[in-house]
Amino acid sequence: MDMMTFPKGFLWGGAIAANQAEGAYLANGKGLTTVDLLPTGKKRWEIMQGQLPSYEPLEGEFYPSHEAIEFYHQYKEDIALFAEMGFKALRLSISWARIFPNGDDVEPNEAGLQFYDNVFDELLKYDIEPVVTIAHFDVPVHLVKKYGSWKNRKLVSFFENYATTLFKRYKGKVKYWMTFNEINMLLHLPFVGAGLVFEEGEDQKQAKYQAAHHQLVASALAVKAGHEINPKMKIGCMLAAGQTYPYSCNPDDVFAAMEKDRESFFFIDVQARGEYPGYAKRFFKENHLTIVMEDQDQQLLKQHTVDYIGFSYYASRTTSGDLDQHKTTAGNVFGSVENPYLEKSEWGWTIDPKGFRITANQLYDRYQKPLFVVENGLGAVDIPTEDGKVNDDYRIDYLRKHVAEMSEAMKDGVEILGYTSWGPIDLVSASTGEMKKRYGYIYVEKDNEGNGTLKRSKKKSFDWYKQVIASNGEKL
Ligand code: BG6
Repeated sequence: MDMMTFPKGFLWGGAIAANQAEGAYLANGKGLTTVDLLPTGKKRWEIMQGQLPSYEPLEGEFYPSHEAIEFYHQYKEDIALFAEMGFKALRLSISWARIFPNGDDVEPNEAGLQFYDNVFDELLKYDIEPVVTIAHFDVPVHLVKKYGSWKNRKLVSFFENYATTLFKRYKGKVKYWMTFNEINMLLHLPFVGAGLVFEEGEDQKQAKYQAAHHQLVASALAVKAGHEINPKMKIGCMLAAGQTYPYSCNPDDVFAAMEKDRESFFFIDVQARGEYPGYAKRFFKENHLTIVMEDQDQQLLKQHTVDYIGFSYYASRTTSGDLDQHKTTAGNVFGSVENPYLEKSEWGWTIDPKGFRITANQLYDRYQKPLFVVENGLGAVDIPTEDGKVNDDYRIDYLRKHVAEMSEAMKDGVEILGYTSWGPIDLVSASTGEMKKRYGYIYVEKDNEGNGTLKRSKKKSFDWYKQVIASNGEKL
């Protein structure tokens, strides 16, 4: 362990999501999903937070998900490049509306199922393990319009049916699954996390926590179904993680930091430990929230906890008991206070490799279940040289430091199954819809307005990551 931190079989790779990569937004029977209604700019932000969108794409608006990077048509070329880097795993999501175009359909769409069969076969050809997120920030629009999305209990059975369809179809091809991407995002970007749209004067907290309960039950039912179909399946949860630091040693700051983390841990406490924690019950009571549950819910949550904890880590957060006294950072949905010890990315996200080690230790101490780092990376502007090269030393620097801290966490005793960095190929940014915010080892020639050839080329980080994988994390 001292010499070789990463065990044999450690799952090195990358992570993408259907709505940010595939494009082909109405191809072969796919229905509209929530992300297909997100334009760029100010409107995007308002809709993501629950303002009523136009349920049909509008003329004159630009919707980045509609074409994205055309992974739908170019997946063979892209997977060949991942294989060249030596990927052991690719995390990707399935678009719910490709399988059930309306979400409540009786029969699945065979063309959608076939597409993912083709993708998985292509991955398996290179011995790349598919790691599949069942819902990554997309809900069929019909479910939003007709049922109010996750506010409605009916979504639980639609999701259960969707997940069961996937488990049955891909049981021989996919071992690692995750139910909801960054499940805690529901509190910050409710339309993105759960397709929530709020009415004028609606109690948003009530709606969010009711939707959260539905997702938690749906997640437990998916775990149950997956294990019944193939007991070898590993089904995880997925948290947008990042330790919250107290601004000072003032107990008020320390307490505020604990509370801030609990806002997110709440979800994983239920998914991994199987019950609503005491602090959540107090929060519901003090905020006059009534979460409607069915008789069997508590038992389901208890019996069908997740096998591992998937998480994303980009940045740590900082908070204080007296927020009015502090400047908050820009561009961060978690509303962090400025941390004077840390640098920031071009989008204002703190850069904190040590925080990665702290976060991993904290999660492992809390849950004692294997972790899976399913997102990490630096969103940065890449400017190709005249001969088209991208010398992204800043990205290498970020990743190198983070992988080194992950290795330290493992030496601390934290069990980690794998590391799939975010966006190994440039793709659409979830928060801004930009292409300019790039994470990839592979450059995609396309700009924020949708112009470009979509041509793929290798950045400097491509060879760096290839060497990291080839040396099983020894050569950073
Ligand atoms: C996570 C999401 O929040 O962070 C991804 O799971 C997202 O979908 C990633 O792309 C990076 O965020 P952004 O906004 O830079 O794309």
